[in-house]
Amino acid sequence: MDILEFFQKRRSIRKYQDKEVPKEALEAILEAGRIAPSAMNAQPWKFIVVTDADTIRALAGTTPYNFVAKAPLIIVACALESQATLGPRFDVAIAVDHMSLAAANLGIGNCWVAGFDREAVRKILGVPEDVDVVVMMTFGYPVEEPRPRPVKDMSEVVSYERF
Ligand SMILES: Cc1cc2nc3c(=O)[nH]c(=O)nc-3n(C[C@H](O)[C@H](O)[C@H](O)COP(=O)(O)O)c2cc1C
Repeated sequence: MDILEFFQKRRSIRKYQDKEVPKEALEAILEAGRIAPSAMNAQPWKFIVVTDADTIRALAGTTPYNFVAKAPLIIVACALESQATLGPRFDVAIAVDHMSLAAANLGIGNCWVAGFDREAVRKILGVPEDVDVVVMMTFGYPVEEPRPRPVKDMSEVVSYERF
């Protein structure tokens, strides 16, 4: 599939089969994050892989999004301190998007979750105080094919030469 068509077809997936993500697929997803670009090549990230059912239940309790509890795999992405011009969260977001797209390419659905209690997640996973809990991403084989969300028209988001 052409890469643009792949991007056009990608959707956030929030309903998952009761089936675990195989180790090889998880490793490919993590590799996509590991090699992502970052400002000054600082790679200011740590990805915490969670598959334990009790921990997933605990993470789900930190967010209003019920689908989190049904995900067989969650990766919690954290930002380490760095001198990156835009701040390490930007780099982490890029790495997480790499993982999202790598997973989609393997037929594994996923969804960003940014709405959660970061301090609660910090306690559950033992994240040190100087490390920033940025985002959780849920993964699993899809049981839904969501319709495309409305996106802004090209003319609204692009201008040429001047603002
Ligand atoms: C940074 C970021 C944070 C997001 N946080 C959440 C979230 O907390 N809960 C949720 O259900 N979806 C979340 N999403 C998914 C968006 O709602 C979704 O990407 C958007 O509606 C477009 O839909 P699509 O991904 O299917 O194209 C987030 C997406 C991004 C990029």
